[in-house]
Amino acid sequence: MQKLTTLIKKLSNFWIKSQASYRKPVTFIKIDKLVIFMICIIVAVLSSYKLLTPDQLNTTIIISWFLTFIEILLCCGILILISQKESPTINSRQIVLIIGLLLIAQYIKIDPNYLSPLSIIVPPALIISQGMGTNTALAWVSIACINWPTSSNGLNNYLLVITFIASCVVSILGGKIRSRAQLLQISLFVPLGVFISQILLLGESNYKNTIIFNIQNKLLKSGDIFSDSLTLAFLLLMTILMMPIFESTFGLLTNARLLELADKEKPLLRRLSIEAPGTFEHTLLICGLAEEATRTIGGDVDLIKTGALYHDIGKLHAPHWFIENQNGITNPHDELNDPLESARILQNHVDEGLKLARKYRLPKPIANFIPEHQGTLKMGYFLYKAKKDKINISENDFRYKGPIPQSKETAILMLADGCEAALRAMDINANDDEALHTISRIISSREKDGQLVESNLSKGEIFLIKRSFLNVWKRIRHRRIQYPSSKNNTFL
Ligand SMILES: [Fe+2]
Ligand SMILES: [Fe+2]
Repeated sequence: MQKLTTLIKKLSNFWIKSQASYRKPVTFIKIDKLVIFMICIIVAVLSSYKLLTPDQLNTTIIISWFLTFIEILLCCGILILISQKESPTINSRQIVLIIGLLLIAQYIKIDPNYLSPLSIIVPPALIISQGMGTNTALAWVSIACINWPTSSNGLNNYLLVITFIASCVVSILGGKIRSRAQLLQISLFVPLGVFISQILLLGESNYKNTIIFNIQNKLLKSGDIFSDSLTLAFLLLMTILMMPIFESTFGLLTNARLLELADKEKPLLRRLSIEAPGTFEHTLLICGLAEEATRTIGGDVDLIKTGALYHDIGKLHAPHWFIENQNGITNPHDELNDPLESARILQNHVDEGLKLARKYRLPKPIANFIPEHQGTLKMGYFLYKAKKDKINISENDFRYKGPIPQSKETAILMLADGCEAALRAMDINANDDEALHTISRIISSREKDGQLVESNLSKGEIFLIKRSFLNVWKRIRHRRIQYPSSKNNTFL
């Protein structure tokens, strides 16, 4: 029995140690909080005021209205908490978008004859799942379906069930979709699925209506199966067309946008490949390492792939000051012989990178990779040189300005950035243990330096990252092994 208790204690300690501390979401300024709260109040009023019928006003009705009002306010609060939990970097504009869409949905729902619930709930679910993630979209859909102010006025239960299922499908697929073409497929297949479900569930009379062709009724009449599905398809198409506007107005970063940015024909990446080919090569190798590690821990692979491509764009301001672009020429740092100035040039690749990110309008989550991949790391070589030359300096002059990685993805990029050069320089005959030792040494030095404390990476995840870096190195080494060729080229 005692052994079992000790084992349980050990296991629970191991579990606690392997967990990262909960990361606090971004805090909003007072005015933003006030705006969000006011929108929540309007949502609650719109969703509950019909309970207050002026001719039969009594205490029971007032208490019932008040309880509904509080319930809706709480639902809004839960929705905000879920969105913050799913994406801790969510900003106030995005929260306003989520609650604002709920407000529009509740307003339109006041008159159920105006638009079908399908058209009110499904398109916003697509916007939210694309921009903020599946969980937030599912929470939004649940609340939009529950707070139905006129549910007692003969709302078709089957229609609400179909709406709920269609919205959930859109929320789940919307969070996974990686191209605009797949989005177009959604706008076609979801209305088709809804149309078939309505025919099967809503009875024969409606089915007959769809056969008798009356253009005015079919296209405009709310509650008609054909009209509902057609309106839904049209609204979904409009949502997809307007997605770039939502992306730029609310700072949303959809998977489709990430893939567009990762296109190597983008002007900034073309410049990097032409003006700084060494940096571009380094970037591609880091992409491989970071992508594999992120996939292993279940992080955002598309985000890190794109972030890695842009992390060193600041080197474009002076490519030849960085070793990977020197290609046999004399190192200008040796000629300069001023460690402090050299450190300033290294810091410049971060500052100039952020300027380029602003100029080319890179989304914030991508621009974050530029300073965070360097964190507050020490520029070891120049610090050593300055100490050797007995220059009177402070260690902070030889550290990047930061901030340290604020997300798992930027932290993985920092680790990949550190390991890439060391792994590339390893002997072709080195074994797995030697490679793993090199990776562990670099990662532990970053950990000890406090670079990972705000990244939310757990011990278990760091272990998985080391193993995935090793796997990528094994693949690279395999490609570098020269196979012997026979004298008479019989292999060919
Ligand atoms: Fe860098
Ligand atoms: Fe780099």
